[in-house]
Amino acid sequence: MSYETILVERRDRVAVITLNRPKQLNALNVQMARDLTDAARELDADESVGCMVVTGSAKAFAAGADIKEMTGLSYMDAHRLDWFHLWDLLGAVRKPIIAAVSGYALGGGCELAMICDFIIAADTAKFGQPEIKLGVMPGIGGSQRLTRAVGKAKAMDMVLTGRMMDAAEAERSGLVSRVVAPDRLMDEALEAAKTIAAMSLPSTRMNKEAVNVAFETGLAQGVRFERRLFQATFAMNDQKEGMAAFVEKRPAQFSHD
Ligand code: CAA
Repeated sequence: MSYETILVERRDRVAVITLNRPKQLNALNVQMARDLTDAARELDADESVGCMVVTGSAKAFAAGADIKEMTGLSYMDAHRLDWFHLWDLLGAVRKPIIAAVSGYALGGGCELAMICDFIIAADTAKFGQPEIKLGVMPGIGGSQRLTRAVGKAKAMDMVLTGRMMDAAEAERSGLVSRVVAPDRLMDEALEAAKTIAAMSLPSTRMNKEAVNVAFETGLAQGVRFERRLFQATFAMNDQKEGMAAFVEKRPAQFSHD
């Protein structure tokens, strides 16, 4: 796989996607949205991949949507082109995606990290939705996902002042799952991805789907949905193998079916 704005690398069952417009601090232009969503969908369809990691550079995960590309747009252009809909394709990927964030994750960069399933951050990471300073607002789900992640008070503070949140505050607020030293970032993300990729793939997809349903439904409906998926796992060879391996005190050998 070869792309203009990203690099894709395979490590056994883990795929690493690196945003690669370092001079522009990985500003997310339309080409990058196309490349990233094409790659993620291709990897999603490849049964030999169990987990993906999306990362940027040491200075910037991504400093937002490409302002220079958007500056001259009219309302009709923005409405007709609807560029940001491409990012919905990433949200529809069924395999886990970990964001490994170092440096700036601003605007669309913060939104991209939040579309991923969880965020591991270097202690240099800075998150923000500074669109208000440009006279606009988040456009790739930031007002919704940030609010769900950190609650109304913090989300309002971030979106209305445009201030950045450092990695420690982001971890305290529940936006990121782990904070590590910058030189540990990729090792930590790859270890997590490797752990996930070693699990049963169908079970992994179901677990991801069930947690995501928590954002979209009420508790009773979500619990019923979870129970149906739980029951469905008993149709899988991996359920038989996983439970047999526990009883026989040996590591499970999943066949991903
Ligand atoms: N779009 C386009 N280019 C960008 C960019 C962006 N979002 N962010 C940085 N760049 C470019 C700069 O223009 C600069 O290019 P030149 O060398 O050609 O001038 C290069 O990247 C390096 O940036 P700086 O010189 O500004 O680097 P810095 O270290 O001084 O500052 C920064 C870093 C604080 C992140 C600053 O670049 C910045 O504030 N960037 C914009 C952040 C922003 O507003 N993001 C939101 C974008 S809108 C959006 O994302 C909408 C949405 O919801 C989808």
